Amino acid sequence: MAAAHPVDTGEPEPAEPPLSDHEIHLIRTSLSVVEPLAGDITVYFYAILFTRYPAVRPLFPEGMDAQRGRLLRGLLRIVDLVDDPENLVRFCGHLGRDHRKFGTLAAHFPAVGECLLASLARYAGPAWTADIAAAWAKAYGVVADVMISAAAEDEAVRPAVWPATLVHRVARGHGIAEITVRPHEPYEYDAGQYVSIETPWWPKHWRSYSPANAPREDGTLTFHVRAVPGGSVSEALVHRAVVGDVLRLGAPMGGMVLDAAVHGELLCVAGGTGLAPVRALIEEVARRGGRHQVDLFLGARTGDELYGVDDMLRMAQRHHWLTIRGAVSHEYVPGIRGSLPDVLAEYGPWYQHDVFLSGPAPMVVSAKEVLVQGGTLPEHIHHDPFETPVLSTP
Ligand SMILES: Cc1cc2nc3c(=O)[nH]c(=O)nc-3n(C[C@H](O)[C@H](O)[C@H](O)COP(=O)(O)OP(=O)(O)OC[C@H]3O[C@@H](n4cnc5c(N)ncnc54)[C@H](O)[C@@H]3O)c2cc1C
Ligand code: HEM
Repeated sequence: MAAAHPVDTGEPEPAEPPLSDHEIHLIRTSLSVVEPLAGDITVYFYAILFTRYPAVRPLFPEGMDAQRGRLLRGLLRIVDLVDDPENLVRFCGHLGRDHRKFGTLAAHFPAVGECLLASLARYAGPAWTADIAAAWAKAYGVVADVMISAAAEDEAVRPAVWPATLVHRVARGHGIAEITVRPHEPYEYDAGQYVSIETPWWPKHWRSYSPANAPREDGTLTFHVRAVPGGSVSEALVHRAVVGDVLRLGAPMGGMVLDAAVHGELLCVAGGTGLAPVRALIEEVARRGGRHQVDLFLGARTGDELYGVDDMLRMAQRHHWLTIRGAVSHEYVPGIRGSLPDVLAEYGPWYQHDVFLSGPAPMVVSAKEVLVQGGTLPEHIHHDPFETPVLSTP
């Protein structure tokens, strides 16, 4: 799956040479045995981790149930990257830097590695041989080294988290709120990137949100948050947070940025609050003097849900290089009818554009399919990962 292009440079080198083909084969074969048992392994993994190393328990959210397999799923997938040293270093570097917000220390890595291997051994049963154990230990060591050194380098240059005071909030209807925060320390990011946020009401529940603005001189960031029914963090941000509350931001992530574009013409496709990073990108184009032609398609199920359209129309009035079209899929309204992917197929061609896609995962996936069928090269299609960054690596 194509992920956004990372923007960082100066990544650390892997501390150990890549694994041999045989070791990679052993890891892949054993992964296929244990992956279907990931739910059980997760429960066991956390049970032994917290029993053997109670000091790491406070790093994790309070309510840990079988669904909370983020770390373990990450571990299983990332070890799968071991035959791709370039991506391994890139993504584990990101992951290591991002782990600073959890409070992870270098000393925790052996503990997690020991419990991972013990859990895999238990569930793989007779399939777990000494050779397989050695291959996993080596792979884990390579990944851990990259994460540890990336975190150490990052520590030298910036904070792990940025407290940020909520300075403005506007309810936009349909369960969407615009929330503006002012970080207490300078917070550098690129338009189009996303930020993980922790609220005071759900400690250690980090969720990603995309600033809807290019970097501002006053340092504030505005997020468009949609309350997901039953969602912990989004409900709190939309219905509970008030001016004066202090949130915590993790380091910015993602490579859906203007510098990733190679063409002068940009196609931006946004569904729902997916408009946020696209709006930031459009502000960035304006900041740089409008040297791109931008076609923006906004999608929603109904006309009422066509979120942010007035704001974008105002922008289009100011910027001759910006064209906006709204597509509504479940209602007849004057204008374009249909889902975003269908509408894209009708317009175009788009093969000479850089494409920025943002919105619900099914929309992004099908829009991408349509565009690739129409001749757009996958490397010119930029979008955020759908879930955990590492799980969406190429
Ligand atoms: C890169 C990235 C950028 C994002 N940017 C934004 C943004 O700008 N604005 C924004 O509002 N959200 C954004 N999200 C989604 C956001 O990170 C959270 O996933 C979302 O707010 C739900 O978190 P929660 O804690 O409220 O729900 P949780 O407590 O995590 O989940 C509660 C329930 O809701 C379900 N659920 C979770 N997310 C969704 C969803 N999106 N739609 C329907 N059901 C869901 C879960 O499966 C679960 O059953 C982004 C996600 C990613 C990966
Ligand atoms: C090779 C080693 C490791 C890998 C590959 C790894 C991978 C991951 C991944 C992919 C996530 C999900 C990130 C997200 O959802 O944003 C995660 C979450 C997390 N990791 Fe790690 N991790 C490693 C080591 C560690 C260590 C040593 C600790 C410290 C105890 C740790 C603590 C955490 C915590 C606290 C979370 C958040 C869990 C949650 O919200 O449920 N990780 N890890």
